[in-house]
Amino acid sequence: MKIPFINFNRMHQSIKKEIMNSFEQAFDTNAFILGSNVEKFEKEYANFNQTNHAVGVSNGLDALFIALKSLDIKEGDEVIVPANTYIASVFAISYTGATPILVEPAIDTYNVNPENILKAITPKTKAIMPVHLYGQACEMDKIMEIAEKYNLLVIEDNAQAHGSSYDDKLTGSFGNINATSFYPGKNLGAMGDGGCVVTNDLQLAEKAKLLRNYGSSVKYYNQTIGYNMRLDNIQAGFLSIKLKHLKDWNLQRQKIAQSYHNLLSEIQEITLPVIHPKSAHVYHLFVIRTEKRDELQKFLENKGIGTIIHYPIPPHLQEAYKDFGFQKGDFPITELLANTSLSLPMWPGMSHDEILEVCNCVKDFFLKK
Ligand SMILES: Cc1ncc(COP(=O)(O)O)c(C=O)c1O
Repeated sequence: MKIPFINFNRMHQSIKKEIMNSFEQAFDTNAFILGSNVEKFEKEYANFNQTNHAVGVSNGLDALFIALKSLDIKEGDEVIVPANTYIASVFAISYTGATPILVEPAIDTYNVNPENILKAITPKTKAIMPVHLYGQACEMDKIMEIAEKYNLLVIEDNAQAHGSSYDDKLTGSFGNINATSFYPGKNLGAMGDGGCVVTNDLQLAEKAKLLRNYGSSVKYYNQTIGYNMRLDNIQAGFLSIKLKHLKDWNLQRQKIAQSYHNLLSEIQEITLPVIHPKSAHVYHLFVIRTEKRDELQKFLENKGIGTIIHYPIPPHLQEAYKDFGFQKGDFPITELLANTSLSLPMWPGMSHDEILEVCNCVKDFFLKK
């Protein structure tokens, strides 16, 4: 049995007609850039995320950048960000001219450790960017407390955690302004690139709207130097359709995760995800850890099972950041995660037989070798 890392077919089959109709409507009305679908989706997503405003943009990286720019983060500022995040979080900070300050995650949840945030604060610190990695909410009570105490701004990177929550409050609704991605493989994914900025602050939302569209709210009048970082009308139409299924798809992900937990718990040599008691986990990814990661990945590949490493090289060891002068060993927990993590197949519509097959192959590798 071949089991890909991700399979869109079962998610998309039941909405194919609706998606095609939505495309046809955009095609017939020649509505391609921004437009009524974007406005409609922004209202729906703001409502879903329990925030007052949502601003659709071109992708998650641009969403983070616009969020930071809206807060006027600039050269000379420092922004604290987890060292084990996807590089987009760090790039967005670099785009503004500010300095990303990397801090280690907690070894159990893989989310940023609030104690390390505290230790990284300097007179130049302007903001904290918590990243809800793999679908699990960061410890937002502690992070917001630190932000308040030290007068720092908060920008949540919610790219991997649509619908997740901490203490029953949705991720992406804590910070001053927050960003998310609708990259196709995300829990809510477009059929191309897409992203969104959300905030409760009308002024910040208006600034984000200006920045995404050439600094302009009236065509050919440019109030500020802006960017072309708009969400397409077609993608917004698709996202509205998919948003209606997000809760159910997240539930399916949680059920798959429960099966993985039940079926893999007997294997001593792997570490399963640990959930913080106040966090909800929407399992964008199901990440296990093992010292034999590379051999296990090869073994599974030979059995037709797709896996991915999130992420094999952490930002501080990327060539892009060689000028920062980091060395191997500077972020030991982050490096341990990079060397031992493996994400198993996880997608709504995955059958119990497919979950069993993945688990049996993992067991074969560890128990029968
Ligand atoms: C944590 C995180 N932040 C930001 C991004 C950037 O999103 P995009 O690929 O839409 O630019 C991603 C995903 O790719 C991500 O996983």
